[in-house]
Amino acid sequence: MDNKISGSMNQAAGAAAPTSMTKRQLLAGLVTSGAAAHALLATASAKADPLPFQVRSNPKFYPKATFVPEVSLAGKVAVITGGSRGIGRATGLALQSAGVTVIGTSRQPGAHPGHPFTLLPLDLADPASIAHFLAMVQARPEVVGNGGIDMLLNNAGRFALGSVVPVDPGAFFGGIQLASATLYGGHVAVTSGLLNAVAARAAVGYGRIIFTTSVVAYGVGGSEPGTSYYHAYTAGKRSLLAYANCLRGLIDAARIGIRISTVNPLAVNTDLASGTRPVFLQPVDANGNAPYDPNFQAFLGAVRASTANGLPAAFAAQAFVQLLMSANPEPNIAVGSEAPPYSIQGQNDFVTAVGLAEMQQSAFPWVAGPAAPPR
Ligand SMILES: NC(=O)c1ccc[n+]([C@@H]2O[C@H](COP(=O)([O-])OP(=O)(O)OC[C@H]3O[C@@H](n4cnc5c(N)ncnc54)[C@H](OP(=O)(O)O)[C@@H]3O)[C@@H](O)[C@H]2O)c1
Repeated sequence: MDNKISGSMNQAAGAAAPTSMTKRQLLAGLVTSGAAAHALLATASAKADPLPFQVRSNPKFYPKATFVPEVSLAGKVAVITGGSRGIGRATGLALQSAGVTVIGTSRQPGAHPGHPFTLLPLDLADPASIAHFLAMVQARPEVVGNGGIDMLLNNAGRFALGSVVPVDPGAFFGGIQLASATLYGGHVAVTSGLLNAVAARAAVGYGRIIFTTSVVAYGVGGSEPGTSYYHAYTAGKRSLLAYANCLRGLIDAARIGIRISTVNPLAVNTDLASGTRPVFLQPVDANGNAPYDPNFQAFLGAVRASTANGLPAAFAAQAFVQLLMSANPEPNIAVGSEAPPYSIQGQNDFVTAVGLAEMQQSAFPWVAGPAAPPR
């Protein structure tokens, strides 16, 4: 029974209950008397105050169709992890257009000759690489000359995909560790290492840190069997979401002035799911396929189709730019749109259905209805 009908029924019961009839008898009568029940419900609904009893998703979608920049980014310095392709590359280009000096990263900068902005080597899953990167980026003339970093975009990431039941323990536990380092621990290390460099700029008026998390960070994973193959990715993104918001709480309380946000895209058309790019928690062949496991293979096909049909990376980039150009940035935003074609490309209907189903499985679900009586 949905909440709307339930609300109407309670109203019907309240309006029409004869004193000799218990509420249970009345409800039984309403349910069994078919057409009469519907008529009664309709009458009661027509007479009742409108009931706002429908739970629905209301994402904070960016980029906004109409947006008035409040902050000029010209002359500022941005560091974007994972700037070699996809969302990071598109965001770097958009920031360059706004007059920002952009430093990106790649595990293999040499594989991107002619890249539109500097790429420094960084592997988030390798502590030595992180230490080297932290030293190198802070010694860059752009950063030294600027007195720090205006914007740190912790964007790099990989899908982590595979069965929730270990098929091959080595692939499973190794994959979980690699996913956790890439999606969570590495970002914590980079952020900690560059916090002073961003704080130095915040102290003179502008310092931002953004984390690219994901819509999956808002799900528990239990309502849609297919999403179980995402579990390590979900865990990594949820960890990063928690870290980002905890850091924001601390920085705000300490009045350090750095503004911290997370950007949570729906499906975006990038190479995230392509070939062997993901971290795999179970064996795959040289093309990133698992023909021995038809269910996983079907999932891989679906997730690759979903990203291939996803939102343009340049669209996602505008969400970052708007956030960075806002004087008071939202702490957490989604990348998507209510309107087609982007609502289709972001798969809003699927995301909404899964989100609402998962919320009902939460320990703290939101329900609609009259205010609870005081305890
Ligand atoms: N596409 C989507 O649908 C979607 C949705 C929600 C969230 N996201 C998130 O958006 C971010 C960007 O992904 P994308 O979609 O743009 O995918 P992408 O095209 O595959 O780009 C991923 C970027 O991350 C870098 N990277 C991967 N592993 C790394 C590591 N161990 N250390 C350092 N850098 C690493 C890659 O650089 P190199 O390979 O050159 O090292 C690349 O620049 C990720 O955090 C992803 O989880 C994507």
